[in-house]
Amino acid sequence: METVAPPGWAPGLAVGEDGCARGGSGRAHNFSAGPAMLDTEVMTYIQKNLLNYQGCGMGIHEMSHRDVNGPVAAMMERTSGNVRRLLGVPDNYRVLFFQGGAHGQFAAVPLNLFGKSGKGDYVIGGNWSTKAMNEASKYGEVRAVADTTTNGHTYYAPVDEWDLSDDSAYVHVCTNETVQGLAMHEDPDVGPNRVLVSDMTSSLFSRPVDIKKYGVIYASGGKNLGPAGCCLVIVRDDLLEQSLPQVRRRCLKPSLPFSSHC
Ligand SMILES: Cc1ncc(COP(=O)(O)O)c(C=O)c1O
Repeated sequence: METVAPPGWAPGLAVGEDGCARGGSGRAHNFSAGPAMLDTEVMTYIQKNLLNYQGCGMGIHEMSHRDVNGPVAAMMERTSGNVRRLLGVPDNYRVLFFQGGAHGQFAAVPLNLFGKSGKGDYVIGGNWSTKAMNEASKYGEVRAVADTTTNGHTYYAPVDEWDLSDDSAYVHVCTNETVQGLAMHEDPDVGPNRVLVSDMTSSLFSRPVDIKKYGVIYASGGKNLGPAGCCLVIVRDDLLEQSLPQVRRRCLKPSLPFSSHC
């Protein structure tokens, strides 16, 4: 037995006996803070192509990713092209896909950028920026240059009040602290001589972004983009070769350098 959803809910929603809200297609509306509901058209396309991707006679999961110009490579090209088009990514930036979610980038960012200066400035807005800073502290010197703990995570101080270093490799922000619910609605301007890095896991594609203000943007798939695990990384060309020597020499995981994903 389904009942009509309470006033204020999206039109056409009904509540099933299990308490889940369902649209006309019978799919549950997922309001979880984790992965969001994916578009029905997208899910239907995936379902249709799972066994036989675009008439190739096999599913995409069964194909080699090393097949130059093959279906997997073409799909990756198309996806990065779509990201470029939707976000207006300038030509001097790479659009890359990593495994390991945003947690992987908490380490990959310092390891890839600490080559010239082993210092990182972190703007702390809640859980995720704190985790990012703690991870980076394993590879260099990190400092909280602003911290919303003092105001109960209710607002970010303006950039000119951040205690920025003159010699840090980058300034790291999280444009939406998913747990505390604290968001930056504008792209911070740290000036042309500083590299701005942002965790945009729960904000990318929710508003226009001025990409050229950033050196690196990363967004784990498991929030705004789709399934968890994959991480989208947008990095400016000049930052591809600023990694720590052990990363350059591939002493650490060979998949870690930004440049190995280009
Ligand atoms: C802002 C933000 N950063 C990082 C993460 C961690 O992402 P992952 O679990 O994919 O590493 C999340 C959510 O889980 C998040 O909301």
